[in-house]
Amino acid sequence: MTSAAINVVLSPPEIDHLPNRDLTNTIAVVFDVLRATSTMVTALAHGAAGIWPVRTIKEAFALKEKHPAALLGGERLGDLIPGFDLGNSPLEYRENVRGREIITTTTNGTIALRAVEHASSILAGALLNIDAVARRLNSQSTHEILLLCAGTFREPALEDILAAGMLISLLPNREPTDSAQLALALYRQYQSNLQVPLYQSRNGRALLAKNRRLEVEWCARPSIYQLLAGMTPDGSIRVIP
Ligand code: MLT
Repeated sequence: MTSAAINVVLSPPEIDHLPNRDLTNTIAVVFDVLRATSTMVTALAHGAAGIWPVRTIKEAFALKEKHPAALLGGERLGDLIPGFDLGNSPLEYRENVRGREIITTTTNGTIALRAVEHASSILAGALLNIDAVARRLNSQSTHEILLLCAGTFREPALEDILAAGMLISLLPNREPTDSAQLALALYRQYQSNLQVPLYQSRNGRALLAKNRRLEVEWCARPSIYQLLAGMTPDGSIRVIP
């Protein structure tokens, strides 16, 4: 019996088509390593109750009307959005989020999450929790797996493809497609020093230029958390069993 496939969506233009794709039997994992999904995992690890990814700033403020106690977090061009409580640095979410609902919008990561909200299950993946994600996927042998690399603006993001490749390396019983084999090859090139591709990436270089090295280093740390961040039926991301 051939093992179920694992596929990778490498760039935002491909993600645009996913809302029209049948994902009934598909587990989707969204990677936005610098920084949306790393920030979500970090926030949940520090007690955030739930995270509501939305596509636009307008949607974020509208949802805030319904959930006035929620925090507003996210970025545009990497920076804090005027009127928001938090930016999109994972380092901002290591305190003062315990028990809070967080509404977030980012350039690529929240778009990618919403693009696959109709999948059988949706996980927010990061290097930070990659072993926990692999354990869950290795226990689900019948579902197709689709890894989304959220990208940066309209381009592929090196760091997201790296993380997808690392996850594929942890799923030995899957049949990788060509795009999955590309991601795996990239990971194998950098597996001894994951920081290198993060520093070389467009997002990484932009953060370094803003003197935000500590955030890049944080996002490059594999499996410091063992939690699973999953989308629940109401569309929010929460720690799931
Ligand atoms: C994104 O969604 O593209 C990233 O999260 C951008 C960022 O965090 O600066």
